[in-house]
Amino acid sequence: MKKPYKNMPEYVFGHYKLRTILKSDAVDMFDYGKDLDVTRYLNWGPFTTIFDAKKTYSEIFKPRIKAGLPIGYAIVDMRKNKMIGTIDFHSKIKGENSAEIGFCLHKDYWNQGIMTNALQYLIQIGFNYLHYDSIRIKHLSQNTASQKVIEKMKFKFVSKEPYLLEKVYGILKDEVLTYELKREDYHGNQ
Ligand SMILES: CC(C)(COP(=O)(O)OP(=O)(O)OC[C@H]1O[C@@H](n2cnc3c(N)ncnc32)[C@H](O)[C@@H]1OP(=O)(O)O)[C@@H](O)C(=O)NCCC(=O)NCCS
Repeated sequence: MKKPYKNMPEYVFGHYKLRTILKSDAVDMFDYGKDLDVTRYLNWGPFTTIFDAKKTYSEIFKPRIKAGLPIGYAIVDMRKNKMIGTIDFHSKIKGENSAEIGFCLHKDYWNQGIMTNALQYLIQIGFNYLHYDSIRIKHLSQNTASQKVIEKMKFKFVSKEPYLLEKVYGILKDEVLTYELKREDYHGNQ
């Protein structure tokens, strides 16, 4: 059986490249994973040591292949040869030919259109290369930047649920919004 998720195509836009996350990315992953602002609305972090980043690679990203998902894309600043974030299909939707996307970027690179570009590519890969029927994505209501990126892609709002995010410094009480983009709507938009 063909397993396209094992060898993902790469993508270059401007000074940036999307390529599969590597074990050696842990140092750069720690650089943004330790940042309170970057991890504020995420269900992980902030990292406290480089070992947190190494563990994330070995326990979260690497095992994805066994689950039938790509390891995930690293976003690389080619001018510095530095890994500055990730975008990935992190889970399959039970009983459906569908997966959910997550993304994260180093703060120095925010608001330059990088994630909008990367998400556009991941959606294309999800439908045209991995052949999903639909793609899901979520954000916390307070995460306005994430919401903006998602809404630019014509995802449709599905549901909103209360959400408690436990961080080391306290609990954030919020709501999680779920969105979906169906294959037929995506192709209808092309
Ligand atoms: C969410 C995130 C990936 C966005 O990446 P990015 O490359 O900065 O996104 P883009 O530059 O493509 O687009 C961001 C949009 O949000 C807008 N924005 C950013 N901060 C905002 C704010 N506080 N209020 C309103 N709009 C905001 C920007 O103006 C831009 O919209 P525009 O293109 O219409 O001007 C990045 O902020 C990040 O990594 N955050 C931390 C991790 C995270 O929260 N991940 C998502 C979990 S759901």
